[in-house]
Amino acid sequence: MILVTGGAGFIGANFVLDWLAQHDEPVLNLDKLTYAGNLESLATLKGDARHVFVQGDIGNSELVSGLLVQYQPRAVVNFAAESHVDRSIHGPEDFIQTNIVGTFRLLESVRAYWGSLGQTEQATFRFLHVSTDEVYGSLAPLAPAFTEQHRYEPNSPYSASKAASDHLVRAYHHTYGLPVLTTNCSNNYGPFHFPEKLIPLMIVNALAGKPLPVYGDGMQIRDWLFVKDHASAIRRVLADGKVGEVYNVGGWNEKPNVEIVHTICDLLDQLRPRSDGKSYKAQITFVKDRPGHDRRYAIDAGKLERELGWKPAETFDTGIRKTVQWYLDNPDWVAHVQSGAYRDWISTQYQ
Ligand code: NAD
Ligand code: DAU
Repeated sequence: MILVTGGAGFIGANFVLDWLAQHDEPVLNLDKLTYAGNLESLATLKGDARHVFVQGDIGNSELVSGLLVQYQPRAVVNFAAESHVDRSIHGPEDFIQTNIVGTFRLLESVRAYWGSLGQTEQATFRFLHVSTDEVYGSLAPLAPAFTEQHRYEPNSPYSASKAASDHLVRAYHHTYGLPVLTTNCSNNYGPFHFPEKLIPLMIVNALAGKPLPVYGDGMQIRDWLFVKDHASAIRRVLADGKVGEVYNVGGWNEKPNVEIVHTICDLLDQLRPRSDGKSYKAQITFVKDRPGHDRRYAIDAGKLERELGWKPAETFDTGIRKTVQWYLDNPDWVAHVQSGAYRDWISTQYQ
């Protein structure tokens, strides 16, 4: 089996669902269930013996070491993190604790476990660390996209904490020989995305008749990847990535924020028109900018394509349409997130 950390979060849950849809190798899912962890996203796996869920912290060495010995995973895929830039600006402490200290403790537990394995198991074991393009900082308007050689220049407490974790992972390979892989991915979107992030926030606010808050001039650029394509990239890297290497993952979809918001409004105008006949664009409100806001991210995913043959399956047009439709089709998931009821899921479903 594989151990997935943070598998109740947005990307982790999509990855677990995707993994178990592809084959039968079981998943041990370790997640602390912070506000961002939502077991309702994994509701279709209820009763599925291939999915073992454990609520816990990657920084709890005793728990993690015990799980490793008990379940003997052949790989660890580390999604667990505090992930929201705005929250890191308001309160960086949790980001330091989970993203840096937590990753360090996880690496220590994994190193001890890996050291106890036989030669063959040691050689095939992998620790895949899921990271972000934000570690590379902000690009000038015409600068080439980030390659794996781009220097680290993180600008927010979130990206600095992810950068630190990337360095620790790298050092555990260089110093101890731990067979690690690192992926640095651009902005994801898709089903089960917590509505604090741009795309889901715009969809749920639009439907609720609330303002659509665009930071600053809305011309900041992000490079969007449909979440299932991120899951397939991780599977690809886990299967055939070269130990110690870093792979950038991206969708070749650079777009300014305001264009994203317009696209969402256009889709909703089509799929769920407002009762007054006006466009959802009427709800767009320009608000104060995010402090230290990175102007542009763009990922060069050429290495992953050349070396491992991975390409995204979705264009932005197909992915965003599926995403908007998913939010329209899943009002209960949205309502439970908004009311906080999703946090009761573990007690109602698992006890
Ligand atoms: P998320 O915030 O939706 O989910 C994070 C999950 O980790 C939650 O389920 C949470 O409960 C869990 N978690 C937090 N602290 C934990 C801890 N100490 N121990 C165990 N579990 C803990 O995040 P996401 O958007 O799914 O991102 C997953 C990973 O991918 C993160 O490492 C993030 O940095 C990276 N990433 C995200 C994006 C993106 O666009 N969302 C892009 C590139 C990389
Ligand atoms: O690039 C990868 C990163 O993408 C991940 O590492 C992070 O975990 C993930 O949260 C995401 O970070 P961003 O800061 O780019 O995502 P967010 O959805 O918060 O914001 C996207 C852009 O939209 C950004 O330029 C800020 C802007 N924005 C965001 C919100 C929430 C708005 O204009 N209004 C908003 O209300």
